[in-house]
Amino acid sequence: MKQFELKNGNKIPALGLGTSGLRGEECTTVVKQALELGYRHIDTADMYGNHRAIAEALNESDVERNELFITSKIQSQDLEYKQLLKSAARLLTELDIKYFDLLLIHWPNPDIPVEESLKAMQELKEDGRAINIGVSNFTIPLLKEALEHHPDLVTVNQVEFHPTLYQKNLLDFAFKNDVILTAYSPLAQGEVFNNSVLKDLGEKYDKTPAQLALRWLIEKDIVAIPKASSKAHLKNNLDVFDWNFPVDAAREMELLDQNNRLIDPGYPDFD
Ligand SMILES: NC(=O)c1ccc[n+]([C@@H]2O[C@H](COP(=O)([O-])OP(=O)(O)OC[C@H]3O[C@@H](n4cnc5c(N)ncnc54)[C@H](OP(=O)(O)O)[C@@H]3O)[C@@H](O)[C@H]2O)c1
Repeated sequence: MKQFELKNGNKIPALGLGTSGLRGEECTTVVKQALELGYRHIDTADMYGNHRAIAEALNESDVERNELFITSKIQSQDLEYKQLLKSAARLLTELDIKYFDLLLIHWPNPDIPVEESLKAMQELKEDGRAINIGVSNFTIPLLKEALEHHPDLVTVNQVEFHPTLYQKNLLDFAFKNDVILTAYSPLAQGEVFNNSVLKDLGEKYDKTPAQLALRWLIEKDIVAIPKASSKAHLKNNLDVFDWNFPVDAAREMELLDQNNRLIDPGYPDFD
């Protein structure tokens, strides 16, 4: 599995399994299948309500803890210093792990200074309960603010990113500041399958639109976390590394941006 290096020298697998919408037994089955197929990076969040289901899959798997990369996220209402520490402890218990590989602020909260949340997250890092710290759904101004307070701490910003939502300015800003972007909804929640350019390119090169979209992101050093719930989809999405990315596909996919934001952040200054 290809990995990207974070500014602290730690590595993050370029592809992970998104688990939003997966719950209970289905979630456990899908995560187990993913681990068997070779996934090592699992993305979850308090909000998804599936930590215990994921824990069951992790506990039943033979994969060693140190081979796994587990990301979870603190909800925006839990970002006050004390509450964040309390939530993080609960999430670790639910996931039945001793540390997060990556802990993110899920959504910014304008009523709680980011400095306060990051102070708590810094402590979690120092005491070994979070290996890496990051944010999610942060615009350029919000990311700038977070970096002003904690330039070394903030390593990742997880945002919506796919060929029809190509956030170039945010990507440039992140790179300049040594922050890795993780693309959520990398398949545009399934819309890539209706995109005629991706369908034509897929037919030409015997790839699915999902594979082209994921490879397009990985070529840009963006981590992708597609959600899938069947073995066939899991397998298809994992097969995005060992083939050449056609030059004309890369060129055509640069032109697909439609500012097609599927998840409304509820604030106006995104990119
Ligand atoms: N930080 C945030 O605020 C935030 C927000 C949204 C999402 N996320 C994260 O990002 C992850 C992915 O985003 P997402 O779930 O919104 O959407 P997505 O990954 O863009 O798309 C998922 C959809 O694509 C389908 N699919 C996946 N692989 C396929 C394949 N190879 N062929 C055909 N269909 C395929 C899935 O169907 P099946 O289920 O039938 O396989 C599902 O309907 C989430 O699960 C979550 O972990 C984070």
